[in-house]
Amino acid sequence: MSDFNILVLHGPNLNLLGTREPETYGSKTLHDINAEIATLANTFNASISTAQSNHEGELVEYIQQAKQQNIDGIIINPAAYTHTSVALRDALLAVNIPFIEVHLSNTQQREDFRQKSFLADAATGIVAGFGSTSYMLALQGLMTHLQHKES
Ligand code: DQA
Repeated sequence: MSDFNILVLHGPNLNLLGTREPETYGSKTLHDINAEIATLANTFNASISTAQSNHEGELVEYIQQAKQQNIDGIIINPAAYTHTSVALRDALLAVNIPFIEVHLSNTQQREDFRQKSFLADAATGIVAGFGSTSYMLALQGLMTHLQHKES
């Protein structure tokens, strides 16, 4: 049995990774990234479920369901909803599951509207700017956080 259950959520347009603005988001597909996350999760004896949606309400539902599914931690790249979504923030606060906010790009180096995150101050941590490696660093950080909570 796994020690921890982790949910990885990807927001809008991340289904297009691989062809979407590769100079900003890299050339790996979402499928490649999910496979790398799952491989790393094995080394932590963690089980991973992944989901992507282009719809805010659907992402809210995934977060709400995480409570019933005994998810211990969430890694979320909310994509454009980072900068707009009170609903995602409220859902994450409602379930009270530790989460890490992830971005492929360094949003702080980009347009002004990307500087604001509605989630960041409620997150356990934020990782941005390392391309797909941001997700791996997020998993490593989340696992350390959860392991410390246990002891
Ligand atoms: C992103 C950054 C967001 O500003 C943008 O809307 C995305 C992707 C990233 O991973 O760098 O869709 O979250």
